[in-house]
Amino acid sequence: MTRGAFIVIEGLDRSGKSTQAARLLERIEAASKSVQLLKFPDRSTPIGQLIDSYLRSRSDMDDHTIHLLFSANRWEISSKIKSLLESGTTIICDRYAFSGIAFSASKALIEESSPPSSSPLTYEWCRAPDVSLPAPDLTLFLDISPEQAARQREGYGEERYEKLEMQARVREVFARIGKEIGAEGWVTIDAGRSREEVEKDIWEKVSPLVEGVNGPVNALWN
Ligand code: TYD
Ligand code: MG
Repeated sequence: MTRGAFIVIEGLDRSGKSTQAARLLERIEAASKSVQLLKFPDRSTPIGQLIDSYLRSRSDMDDHTIHLLFSANRWEISSKIKSLLESGTTIICDRYAFSGIAFSASKALIEESSPPSSSPLTYEWCRAPDVSLPAPDLTLFLDISPEQAARQREGYGEERYEKLEMQARVREVFARIGKEIGAEGWVTIDAGRSREEVEKDIWEKVSPLVEGVNGPVNALWN
């Protein structure tokens, strides 16, 4: 018996994740397979609304608190993820726990973001709340320089983390996560190229998984 594949797309802000996720969705649908697109943060839930307000700088929160809310926003949808996969539906997920670590841990590396009195968010601390979530079968990391990402769209810098220094740190933490996950589960895609080229590379990696995956849904970092 096979189940659906759990495919995550990660990257810096404005790296083209949402566009590529939509293209991938279309391709899998065109192959007449059951597929669903998810996105984190999911701003539609009560927890997601707190996150949304924080990201738009309409509210402030302690760094630990917002980190735990991002994780809780995944946990509240985790049983849905598991049951969709088990029922044979492929999931494409626009950001996941890796963003959680990359963005929060980057704050500790940037002095101004947290007052000196607050304890820094270490990599290990940031990872802990997401341990045991459903594990992706494949993560596609859309790699782009912060400078190029900033040129991709109008309105860059409107949200809290859209600053070059922060994004450069985030890129470094993503690289560390990728090394730890290993080449089996983490593929880096050069997102500095045309949409079509990126889409082609993604499809090459994903198409074998669309036929279904054997074995149970794994638990992340267990
Ligand atoms: P993003 O995917 O950019 O949302 P949108 O496409 O609606 O702009 O996510 C918003 C921000 O949230 C982005 O800067 C990354 C950050 N983030 C975290 O800090 N932690 C997390 O766990 C997640 C999922 C995202
Ligand atoms: Mg964004």
